[in-house]
Amino acid sequence: MSPVDTTRLQRLARAYTESAVFYAAIDIELFTHVSAGADTIPAIAAATGMSELNAERLVTVALAMGLLDSEDGRIVNAADCEKFMVKGGERYAGPWMTFTRHEVPRWFDLTEKLIDPAPPTELGMYDDLTVERARKYHAATYSIGMGAGRRFCRQVDLSGRRKLLDLGGGSGAYSINAVKTFDGLEAVVFDLPPVTVVTQEYLEQNEVGDRVGTVGGDFINDDLPTGCDVAVMASNLPIYNAENIQKVVQKTFDALEPGGEMHLVGETLNADGVGPLDAALWGLAEIHYGSGGRSHSSAECISYFENAGFVDVENLDFVPNTLTRTFGRKPA
Ligand SMILES: C[S@@+](CC[C@H](N)C(=O)[O-])C[C@H]1O[C@@H](n2cnc3c(N)ncnc32)[C@H](O)[C@@H]1O
Repeated sequence: MSPVDTTRLQRLARAYTESAVFYAAIDIELFTHVSAGADTIPAIAAATGMSELNAERLVTVALAMGLLDSEDGRIVNAADCEKFMVKGGERYAGPWMTFTRHEVPRWFDLTEKLIDPAPPTELGMYDDLTVERARKYHAATYSIGMGAGRRFCRQVDLSGRRKLLDLGGGSGAYSINAVKTFDGLEAVVFDLPPVTVVTQEYLEQNEVGDRVGTVGGDFINDDLPTGCDVAVMASNLPIYNAENIQKVVQKTFDALEPGGEMHLVGETLNADGVGPLDAALWGLAEIHYGSGGRSHSSAECISYFENAGFVDVENLDFVPNTLTRTFGRKPA
């Protein structure tokens, strides 16, 4: 057995430095410059405006973090940075990677938040949402959601389905991909009223406005659109407590056509509630927004579906160690 030492704890105590390095690298467009051919310290310094000393310091850490690689003495991007972190690229995910950057100071006030007696609100971060805030928020979710939407359409065969209900659909990323992938499918994005203004912009940009509509409302308290034979609810889980997730799953079951199916995609804890860390942290992050939400386990997700009346219920990997997809079918 290896001796117990402080290495892991020391690393945790300074883990925030890794986020800071990643943000700085995004700010100075390190990956974009490397992709464009800046493959030495002097070239990176010249392209970014850093001194050679600072370029060397940053590159040394980025190599150690696996953000950059060294190939025959040349500096290159790691595969994920080349694919997702090069500005101007179709898959550029910079807005999503810095999506929670404004939360940094709040995380360092966590101790006070943990003992704050203020009761949670139902909508948390979505209370008092404006179109402007929704537009900024969904620039980030779109940059990652389109990839998730494409993945959903690779994993789930919606051939023969007629209408998709996209609950909390945001930018419409899932609906856009679904109607482009499956002939004859239509979709409706149901989201808070200020968001649907932004959804329309993405639908027009993707030229699917004739096949995807929007309905503004609150899926916890308002009636859901009927006439749909498939429903997806993606990336909403930690915002709500068990009671509200159960409520929306039940309402979806009731609104779906007989024989319809529902997919709940989200950051999910393992069945025993232990890990993965990312799912646990998304639940804790809700403390900053004042919602009553928390992380949910795969076993809980299965029970929400079974309690609602869905059959053939299963919880599957969507993005391993990050997101799961709970599936259920409404009996015909
Ligand atoms: C993280 S975004 C995910 C968007 C989209 N599903 C995706 O994966 O790209 C969560 C979305 O759920 C919406 N939402 C949260 N609570 C809602 C509620 N009670 N009623 C309707 N929409 C809600 C938010 O406005 C936001 O657009």
